[in-house]
Amino acid sequence: MPPSSPSIQRKPQLSSLPILCKGIVICGLVLFLFYTVLCHHPNNDNDLFVPFIAQEWPASSPTNVTSSPTDLSHIMFVLVGCIRTWKYRRPYIEAWWRENKTRGNIWLDVAPTQELLPWPSSSPPFRVNEDIKKLKIYPKLVNPVEVRIYRSVLETFRLEDNKDVRWFVMADDDTLFFLDNLVEVLGKYDHTKYYYIGTNSECIKSNYDFSFDMGYGGAGYALSYALVEALVSTIDECIERYPHLYVSDYLSSSCSADLGVDLIIEKGIHQIDLHGDISGLLSSHPKSSLITLHHFDAIDPIFPSMNRTEAVNHLMKPAKLDQSRLLQQTICYLRQSNWTFSISWGYSAHIYESIFPRSILRRPLETFRPWKEDRPPLFMFNTRRPSNDPCKAPHVFSLEGVLDRDEGSSSHEHVITTYSRSLQRNLPACSSNGNHSADPIVKIQVFSPSTGRKEAGRIECCDVDYVAGKDIANIKLRACMKSEVLA
Ligand SMILES: *[C@@H]1O[C@H](CO)[C@@H](O)[C@H](O)[C@H]1NC(C)=O
Ligand SMILES: *[C@@H]1O[C@H](CO)[C@@H](O)[C@H](O)[C@H]1NC(C)=O
Ligand SMILES: *[C@@H]1O[C@H](CO)[C@@H](O)[C@H](O)[C@H]1NC(C)=O
Ligand SMILES: *[C@@H]1O[C@H](CO)[C@@H](O)[C@H](O)[C@H]1NC(C)=O
Ligand SMILES: *[C@@H]1O[C@H](CO)[C@@H](O)[C@H](O)[C@H]1NC(C)=O
Repeated sequence: MPPSSPSIQRKPQLSSLPILCKGIVICGLVLFLFYTVLCHHPNNDNDLFVPFIAQEWPASSPTNVTSSPTDLSHIMFVLVGCIRTWKYRRPYIEAWWRENKTRGNIWLDVAPTQELLPWPSSSPPFRVNEDIKKLKIYPKLVNPVEVRIYRSVLETFRLEDNKDVRWFVMADDDTLFFLDNLVEVLGKYDHTKYYYIGTNSECIKSNYDFSFDMGYGGAGYALSYALVEALVSTIDECIERYPHLYVSDYLSSSCSADLGVDLIIEKGIHQIDLHGDISGLLSSHPKSSLITLHHFDAIDPIFPSMNRTEAVNHLMKPAKLDQSRLLQQTICYLRQSNWTFSISWGYSAHIYESIFPRSILRRPLETFRPWKEDRPPLFMFNTRRPSNDPCKAPHVFSLEGVLDRDEGSSSHEHVITTYSRSLQRNLPACSSNGNHSADPIVKIQVFSPSTGRKEAGRIECCDVDYVAGKDIANIKLRACMKSEVLA
């Protein structure tokens, strides 16, 4: 389907002229009213305020401290797909969907064909969207599919049992969620107020074409219950205001904006408007918890020598053990070799034959391409250009396996993730830093505590245990010391 995310990257037609004209007419009317009021009743002060609506200032409403912490049962998923893509996308949804625990639906354009039935219980239950041809505005819609997609939130609100729902989370059929992190992040916000939480695109051009203030639908975005309640009574009216909009997420951001609600960006939400190898991005993730990934069909499989489905399922192995550390970048040094280790937990490990500070390594290596070829600057973040300089090019290792030592009888309180060399680097050692080659290393083992989640937003430090010439390096994560400098 044309994903609700602007995969069809067409420049929206900004035919706002009629709206503008209408605005001018309304303003003119208001001025005219004031004018007549002022002119004809100069002595009656009360009449001056006739056009104002008597709405009380609300008492400031503090966060409801008596409400229980947010959990998965408070989230209603509004996933949008279509019959044509379901077969290919089903594995992405089933990788994260928790049968009987996650609430919500996958919304389809038409009822599933016989070959797709019986509908698997491991997938979200499907619903078929209302026929929007019944809308008065239908003939004027430039892209009716997108209106269908957006109205799924309205239909969910009307049809589902919304008891205890605090958040409506919209996403595509190829969005991968990390639910524990999603729950933690949404828990920071008060669902009884208006909130719109998501992210824009990685590509400057996409945001320029659509909006820097739009939560991209494929990345997934969350609307608080209070906001959805306000939206449902105004959605069809809003659609009539914007029949020319091409994409549902732009429509969504416009309807929320007109209720006074702007996007809050969470950096763990990812649209992935990228092509090729996104390992550079996943190896330097911001220190926010990973919440979503998207567009798996547009990028290379995220692990070498796996197909896309296998690669997604491989990432879910560490995710099942510890989402708080997933893709979190931890940096440590082996001073006697002038090496830097950069771990992206549950995904990759890099060894540089130089000492690089965190300020450099937190920038993703630009292994990927933008959604559309364009002139730089391309991305919403700084990158490092890949290099063949032996002092700059990392030795790359990717996740091999995960072992939870608590499961066995061992007394070690550790989760062990192992990373194996993906490719030979095929470069000499960095001679200016002492000529210490990391070529002998074939595997890196990372030991992390299995005692609960890492505190959100806190980075961790690590120590390297390595005997020169051996083929395995061991890394132990630990809390950073006070004023510990990563450089
Ligand atoms: C606060 O939350 C509790 C539990 O969810 C609820 O019963 C109560 O009505 C809420 N109070 C307000 C003022 O919203
Ligand atoms: C989900 O609930 C149904 C009905 O109660 C039950 O038959 C099924 O085994 C449950 N599935 C899981 C994975 O718990
Ligand atoms: C990916 O590999 C698995 C086997 O490991 C296979 O069952 C599946 O069909 C493959 N998927 C695709 C899209 O090739
Ligand atoms: C580390 O690199 C510096 C130059 O960057 C060099 O002067 C120093 O001798 C090297 N240390 C070792 C142990 O090789
Ligand atoms: C670096 O080490 C390699 C072998 O490990 C050796 O062949 C090369 O001559 C060394 N280079 C320098 C500049 O010492």
